[in-house]
Amino acid sequence: MSRIISVDGQNTGTLQEKSLEYLSKAEDSLKSLQSGNCAGGEFTSWYHWPKNHGFELLQQIDRWKENYESAYDTVVVGGIGGSYAGALAVEQALSHSHAQILDGAGKSQGKKSIMYAGHNLSETGLIELLEALDHKLPIVNVISKSGTTTEPSVAFRVLYSYLQERFGKEEAKKRIVVTTDTQKGVLRQLANESGFPSFSIPDGVGGRFSVLTAVGLVPLCLAGYPTQEILEGANDLFTSLDPENVNSEHPCLQLAAIRRAAWEQGKAIDILSYGEPKLGGLVEWWKQLFGESEGKDSKGLFPAGMIYSTDLHSLGQFLQDGNPCILETFLFIESESSSASQVEKRLKVPGFALGDDKLQYLEGKYVAEIGTAAMKAALEAHSERGVPCVCLSIPSLSPYYLGQMLAFFEVVCAVSALLLEVNPFNQEGVEAYKTNLFRIMGRPGFK
Ligand code: PA5
Repeated sequence: MSRIISVDGQNTGTLQEKSLEYLSKAEDSLKSLQSGNCAGGEFTSWYHWPKNHGFELLQQIDRWKENYESAYDTVVVGGIGGSYAGALAVEQALSHSHAQILDGAGKSQGKKSIMYAGHNLSETGLIELLEALDHKLPIVNVISKSGTTTEPSVAFRVLYSYLQERFGKEEAKKRIVVTTDTQKGVLRQLANESGFPSFSIPDGVGGRFSVLTAVGLVPLCLAGYPTQEILEGANDLFTSLDPENVNSEHPCLQLAAIRRAAWEQGKAIDILSYGEPKLGGLVEWWKQLFGESEGKDSKGLFPAGMIYSTDLHSLGQFLQDGNPCILETFLFIESESSSASQVEKRLKVPGFALGDDKLQYLEGKYVAEIGTAAMKAALEAHSERGVPCVCLSIPSLSPYYLGQMLAFFEVVCAVSALLLEVNPFNQEGVEAYKTNLFRIMGRPGFK
């Protein structure tokens, strides 16, 4: 097994010691999660998902893909919340930042484009998506567990009309893949009646914990992403938590305990700070995961993200000098100052023929090394100011470590929420807005 993501709490001030009080409770919470005896225990099938179902499901998806007949170069993901955030996280982390432009030159490493619909209600956005699709050969993966969420449902109508008009009824049907509940919901009914190919979201997995199920695997596999390696990374993380391997030093338990201690100490915000823009989607996914899981009964740390060094020139001021209600979680990629990985590339600061720009001291250094130094400089400055700063590190940005991070954050999130004594797996707060939207737009039965 490769190294597991590490956690360093040395710069968290008094939180480090305080967190020790929560470690044994964190262990108990983990056990209750593993046995399904925790709050919301019926929604814990995501735990150890790769080993229990994921690898097998991937083979099924691969077989289906091999037999898929229509030519396509673009996968449109139609979903919101947990039904799209995981695919976006992986796509942004592992694709070329300018893949849309380089596609023709074959520089997107054989991957097909992924585009998104149904994650907002922008009319202009939908029109512009269709305009772009005119230049592509799309396949549409509509993803909704409930099958009733307004945003993806509206997008589905629009996309289906588009496909029918462009390709005709029979071909349009072939270009839709549905991912939804095993039995319930309008989308399941439509898929069954219309004969769309479909995959199921298991009953025991809620939206934001579903990235490694068909919700994330179908679009990523269709678009050619290294899903096997992602599952392997996640599987190793879950295995490291197996009773014969785990102890209270496990990074998942340490981080959950630090977060719990931060809440006790009056912190209100957890900022995930990162230096690699490719991780922007992962941070959005993390925000959704923690926000919807912990934010209940007037509890929880509000999850926010900061991209360094960009945000050191904006929000950095707040951390240095503003309201001290923040826990900061730094996400380091160790290879930023060493060798390249599958995803990362290396560039040294070149010599300069123009004149004296006072940058000679950086000449020959990797740009990423300067980026990591900026993160360390911020870490020093913020922790000296009294912001508790916890550091997470992965050896490199790779599909394997991306998989580890997905599983890592899922476990930390569930244990953190259990330490706060809230059910990690419901989201009644989200339902309130959904019902209001139905009423405002005049859905029958919603007054
Ligand atoms: O985590 C969750 O359960 C939510 O964020 C859902 O994923 C989101 O509300 C979308 O729901 P659905 O998949 O039912 O359309």
